[in-house]
Amino acid sequence: MRGIERVYTKNNKIMNIAKMSLLSLALLFPLAGCGGNEASSTGAAKVGTADAGIQELEIKLSHVAADNTPKGLAANKFKELVEEKSDGKIEVKVFPSGQLYGDHDELEAVQAGNVQIIIPSAAKLSGFEETFEIFDLPFMFNDEAHLRAFEDGEGGQQLLSALDEYGMKGLAFWPNGFKHVTNNKVAVDDPSDLKGLKIRTHGGQIIGEVYDAMGAASTKIAFNEVYQSLQLGTIDGQENSIVNIETQKYGEVQNNLTFTGHARSEYAVVTNKQWWDGLNQETQDLLTEAMAGATEEGRKQVEKLETESIEKIKSEGKMTITELTDEQKDAFRQATQPVFDKWAGTMNQEIITKAIEAGN
Ligand code: LMR
Repeated sequence: MRGIERVYTKNNKIMNIAKMSLLSLALLFPLAGCGGNEASSTGAAKVGTADAGIQELEIKLSHVAADNTPKGLAANKFKELVEEKSDGKIEVKVFPSGQLYGDHDELEAVQAGNVQIIIPSAAKLSGFEETFEIFDLPFMFNDEAHLRAFEDGEGGQQLLSALDEYGMKGLAFWPNGFKHVTNNKVAVDDPSDLKGLKIRTHGGQIIGEVYDAMGAASTKIAFNEVYQSLQLGTIDGQENSIVNIETQKYGEVQNNLTFTGHARSEYAVVTNKQWWDGLNQETQDLLTEAMAGATEEGRKQVEKLETESIEKIKSEGKMTITELTDEQKDAFRQATQPVFDKWAGTMNQEIITKAIEAGN
């Protein structure tokens, strides 16, 4: 499978392969974007007319997280809103927990039109545009308000539009949470404690360099394979949002959790552009409105679920929890500052400036 290598690789050669594969798809499916009553060339069952009124559609939405996470609840809200607003003309089938596609194949599936909506971590799109790794810039975003201001503003929208030339369309950003580290070797309260540990990440250059800067090794592993890798000991630890740490039951295979909050896990909601462009205006408007409602739901849930997950983890008592003092947290900030400086200086400068301004 070529897709996942392509997505995590930053050189032009690989990106050209992505474009070529779209060209091949266009040749394979010459009727693309015509609308009408035919089965859609992008794989969606498209049974209504594209001329007027809400079209009859079946939308497959695939993601890798559990249902009781900000992403899971937002996805279910999207389904509810779409089906309600369309009077049942549009059916949304939600496939959580990587049931339909996982990290290895979801991007290729959406480009091929085999699934209409996926919701990967933004960093998983960095093979197309490296600025999607902005959320992994260490200590870049202060809080939820900072993220929302950036995502709703020109910077966030400009970033989403970078997907257009790869046959995809970014519909929204959804929150997951700030990332924290678990491992089964040592209670981490200083960056030097991570030295020599092998940590799973969702991939990308920046987060890899963040761990390099702290003397740890990092490796990309698909989300739905992390529990087993921790259990087998092929990795010592991992980083994720508190809700993912809790819902994936990492406490069963990890002894230590440190609230580092060193980077952000944020999602991009991605659809197939050709499929989207083939929908009539009324249908697009309905989906856009439902997406706004689902985004609100994710935002409403993220801190609430985080608090609940922390309580659950504490009451289970399986992991030693380290809460860092401001001074200790500053040591993580200082250790990773060179990574921030390097990448904030090389990513899309307009977007970086807008992201920094959004926090002011
Ligand atoms: C990860 O791969 O670490 C997560 O972002 C998975 C997810 O989508 O919640």
